[in-house]
Order: sequence, then C-alpha cells, then structure tokens
Amino acid sequence: MSAKVIAVYSTKGGVGKTTAAVNLAWQAASEGRSVLLWDLDPQAASTWLLRVKPRLRGGVDALVRGKQPAHKAIRESQVDRIDVLPADESYRDLELALGAEKKSETRLAAALKPLQKAYDVIILDCPPGASLVAENAVRAADVVVLPLLPSALGLRSLEQVREIIRGASRRVALVGFLNQVDRRKRTHVAATDRLPREDSQISDVYVPATVVVERMGDARAPLGAYAPTSEPARAYAQLWHLIRRA
Ligand SMILES: Nc1ncnc2c1ncn2[C@@H]1O[C@H](COP(=O)(O)OP(=O)(O)O)[C@@H](O)[C@H]1O
Ligand SMILES: [Mg+2]
Repeated sequence: MSAKVIAVYSTKGGVGKTTAAVNLAWQAASEGRSVLLWDLDPQAASTWLLRVKPRLRGGVDALVRGKQPAHKAIRESQVDRIDVLPADESYRDLELALGAEKKSETRLAAALKPLQKAYDVIILDCPPGASLVAENAVRAADVVVLPLLPSALGLRSLEQVREIIRGASRRVALVGFLNQVDRRKRTHVAATDRLPREDSQISDVYVPATVVVERMGDARAPLGAYAPTSEPARAYAQLWHLIRRA
C-alpha cells in the first residue's frame, strides 16, 4: 500500500487551504485511515490548529537535503490517527533550499517516498504562490484540491493551478470547490449553480461562509471535533468522498 497524496493548493492566500487541509484530514481519520498532514507554509497555521509544536531540528533544509529523515520530524496531533509534519520559521527558506538541490522539482516527492508505506493518506498544506514549493507539491500529489472564492478574481487561480499541473509530467487529478459562499449574494448563488455544470473539475459541493468555520481558531480543532453536524463539516465530508475516489 502506498499513501494517497493530496496537495491542498492555490496560487492565492486566504482562500481556505489550511481550513480544508485540517478538515479533510479529520474526515479521512474518522474513517479509520492513518493520516499525515505536512504543513508546508511558514505561517504554520495547520500545525497550530492541530496543537503541534512548530519546531524542526535542522529545519526544513535538512529534510529536503535528505540529511534528516522526515519520519523523525513527525509529531502526533491531539486527533487520533492524524500525525503532523510541522512547519516552523525555516520554511521561509524552503524555496531557496529546494532551488539549491539537484532535481529541485521532485525533492518533496523524494522526502515523502519513505513515508508512503506508513500512512493511508498524506495531505500537503501548501503556501500560496506559483513557486518551486508549489511545483514540488503538485509533482508529489495524486490529487490537487483547490479552494476557490466565488468571484472573477478568485477563479483566476483555477487557470494558474491548471498551468502548474500541466507542467508536472504525470497524471494529477484536480478537485476544485467553492469556499466562503454567501447565499445572500446573487453572484455567489449563480456561481454555485453555473460553475460545477460548466467545469467538470469544480465540485458541486461548496462550503458556506459561516462563523462555525471561523471558530476553528478558538477551538484549535477540526470542525468534526466541535461541530460535526454543521453544514461546513458535512460539506468537507462530501468533498472527502469525492477526493478519495479522484
Ligand atoms: N467557509 C468559511 N467560512 C468562514 N470563514 C472561513 C471559511 N473558510 C476559511 N475561512 C477563514 O478564512 C481565513 C483564511 O482561511 P485559511 O484556511 O487559513 O486560508 P489559506 O490557508 O488559503 O490561507 C481563516 O481565518 C479562516 O477561518
Ligand atoms: Mg494556509
């Protein structure tokens, strides 16, 4: 068995990548799968949400150079069956660390390889931008999950992410979904109706904009732990079912 690798990625920040990464991890774990969440963002938001200490001996540099095996940096989270490879400040230099290596686009895939037998699912919480980090994440992934804000500007990231996927020389599935949908806005309602019909890579499952999601920061826990029957929790459950088949 080899873990399914899921990169939660967008060129844009603040669209719901970390929120999706943590909640999809929870969904997979609640089905009995063993999950590793690799936090690739120096902001370390998913590390923090899952209550893991953001410290890494030797920094991420040692990881991508293969000097420190990834399994030594992995920590258990508070949630059963979710382990975290935490981010820390050193991730600010990940771009440079990757650039300095040979085969710089596939270093993450190489670092993941020995972990793939130990987990059922590996989720990469990516930083924004169209960088070498992104290229590495996409090349390591079986599926790219892309949160989209329902606006013209938000949708531009769809083409940008597709471009990066085209650059990876392997088959990578794309699952886009609308996040922060406000049903009081006609444009949002129109987007949830039209986009999934017009684009087979945009799911008809969307996540509403709600304070229940914002409360994750206070709870420092996935939605499943404090609001399992809420609408967004159910949306992530449905998304997980799509993603695991993608
Ligand atoms: N569906 C939603 N409803 C309300 N707030 C949301 C929703 N999705 C994300 N947020 C909030 O938006 C902010 C950015 O989300 P985050 O997942 O950190 O984005 P990213 O990882 O893409 O930068 C966070 O404060 C988060 O709580
Ligand atoms: Mg994030």
